[in-house]
Amino acid sequence: MVKYVNTTIKIGLPKPLRFLHTTDNHLTLADERDNERKRNLAAARHKAFEGDTNRVQTSLDEMIDYCNKNCDLMLHTGDLIDFVSYKNVEVAKSYLDKTDYFMCAGNHEFSQYVGEAWEDEAYKYQSFSLVQTMTKYDLEFSSRLVGGVNLVGVDNGYYYFLWSQLAALKAEVAKGYPILLLMHNPIYTDDLYEEMMVRRKSACAYVCGCPAEKMACYDAHRRKQQQPYFATNEFIDYVKNEPLIKALITGHLHFNYEGELVPGKMQYVTTGGFHEGARLIEVV
Ligand SMILES: [Fe+2]
Repeated sequence: MVKYVNTTIKIGLPKPLRFLHTTDNHLTLADERDNERKRNLAAARHKAFEGDTNRVQTSLDEMIDYCNKNCDLMLHTGDLIDFVSYKNVEVAKSYLDKTDYFMCAGNHEFSQYVGEAWEDEAYKYQSFSLVQTMTKYDLEFSSRLVGGVNLVGVDNGYYYFLWSQLAALKAEVAKGYPILLLMHNPIYTDDLYEEMMVRRKSACAYVCGCPAEKMACYDAHRRKQQQPYFATNEFIDYVKNEPLIKALITGHLHFNYEGELVPGKMQYVTTGGFHEGARLIEVV
């Protein structure tokens, strides 16, 4: 049974909208089209996320059914698949085709063997064209206007934003509609950092835009991985200061969390779909 948390976002819409937000389902499928290494990875990762159950797919079925009956749209913030395989991309597409949705990519969308390589633009583009076939939305940056709200999805799965993504976001703002911004990795805040490092005793915070001094305690790999490259700090400053950007909808951390990015602007993190959890968002 999927457990839902309820969220209301107030932006003054004439007619309310209802979204089902799911993220981080981590499909772990492979078949004879992939090699033995990939099939072994699939078995190990399936066990890690689902044990002996099939709860990733049963919960996806349940969520999509619920969404079709009760919501305007499904929102997805990435890691629908755990690694790139023909079967994963195919099954992901078949789920997305069952409902009306909007999405952005996560770090695992372009992961070939999970943690085997340094993940950057060159690595992402090794699998980008195959993974892109799962969805009609551009996995780097896309937008969709629904009921007076501009949904904008941006890929920050590798903890950075590109200059092209910042320019594209500014072009969306220029359209003049209130924006809900979807991204996979949450943005650094003091409170979310505390949540991860103090309350959850994580070895790193897995957030985008972490200040250097807060990463001094990370190991060298995590520090390099989570450094704010390219346009990251400028993008985050822009998001914090642009009044038309109303809220951030994220995933990646596999637990439910709500906190202010800046006063009056909420950041929502939704638990992993593999935990059989999702968020119902009413926009009023
Ligand atoms: Fe992730």
